[in-house]
Amino acid sequence: MDERKKVIFSGIQPSGNLTLGNYIGAIKNWVKLQDEYDCLFCVVDLHAITVKQEPKDLRQRTLEVLAIYIASGLEPEKNTLFIQSHVPAHSEGAWLLNCFTYMGELGRMTQFKDKSQKYGESISAGLFTYPVLMAADILMYNADLVPVGKDQKQHVELARDIAARFNNLYSPTFTLPEPYIAPTGAKIMDLQEPTKKMSKSEENANSYILIMDPPEVIRKKISRAVTDSLGVVKYSDEQPGVKNLMNIIISLTGTTPEEIEKKYEGRGYADFKKDTAETIIAELEPVQKRVKELLEDKTYLEQIYKAGAEKANYLSMKILRKMQKKIGFIPVSK
Ligand code: AMP
Ligand code: TRP
Repeated sequence: MDERKKVIFSGIQPSGNLTLGNYIGAIKNWVKLQDEYDCLFCVVDLHAITVKQEPKDLRQRTLEVLAIYIASGLEPEKNTLFIQSHVPAHSEGAWLLNCFTYMGELGRMTQFKDKSQKYGESISAGLFTYPVLMAADILMYNADLVPVGKDQKQHVELARDIAARFNNLYSPTFTLPEPYIAPTGAKIMDLQEPTKKMSKSEENANSYILIMDPPEVIRKKISRAVTDSLGVVKYSDEQPGVKNLMNIIISLTGTTPEEIEKKYEGRGYADFKKDTAETIIAELEPVQKRVKELLEDKTYLEQIYKAGAEKANYLSMKILRKMQKKIGFIPVSK
């Protein structure tokens, strides 16, 4: 039987430099999925402008994120790699879906609640409707699975609710997407405040490791990572700093908490931290080298995002047309 491969969609915003959290929680998991699924991976620049962006930085980071996708092992021949703003069906689909989404639903999104607290009155409407654009990203390809970190689960569930609502109101149109949370490394925490997630928008640079951080910076940041005064390497919620570093090692090497605990028994934190830094460096150095090469070959990158946009445009237009027809819009041509 000719069974359709399941479709996967995911994306990262070029709104800051990508962190080790993005790498472990997102990209590294995607790489494992590319053979089994029909994957689309997007650089979501439309999402990035929900907060202020410097045009020059946005341009540079958009290409860098694409280069990081490729350098981390996402093969352009196997996946559709593209830039969100190159595919107008995302914006248009988002408008249509906005009309099937309730204010109450959007107001309940924890990410919105957190961000609106931070920005107060000067928060953009885009930040409020952001999950609807994300729903459009997912639904315009009838994605089955959406690999994301835990923090994005609520948004994927909203996309599912909107899809179900549209299907019920008209007729089956959308596949109901499901979040796909990888079993390990789902959430990497802030190095300074290990009870909150590592984020590229954090002001204190010691809070995160960037994918592009040079080795000496990684060593310094890990040596400054907040731990505790217990002095035992133990995988415990009472020791969130230590647990986080252990989680980083586990997701990069596949080792277990028990193995790590045993290795550092009676040795305090110094060696443990040193080894954590070296593990990260060993993983990121080859990626960094490849990113730099790719960024020097703009023609190659352009070739990739153009081909990706063409494919994504073709797929998403088909679904957008379907929506328009069901809603009752008059087609410009039959
Ligand atoms: P963002 O940086 O918010 O655009 O997130 C892009 C992707 O990376 C999403 O799937 C997030 O869930 C994931 N991600 C971001 N930060 C982390 C983190 N600290 N730990 C795990 N996953 C993360
Ligand atoms: N909102 C997601 C984040 O901040 C990024 C994103 C946008 C996304 N569109 C998506 C993730 C579609 C998965 C699917 O992490």
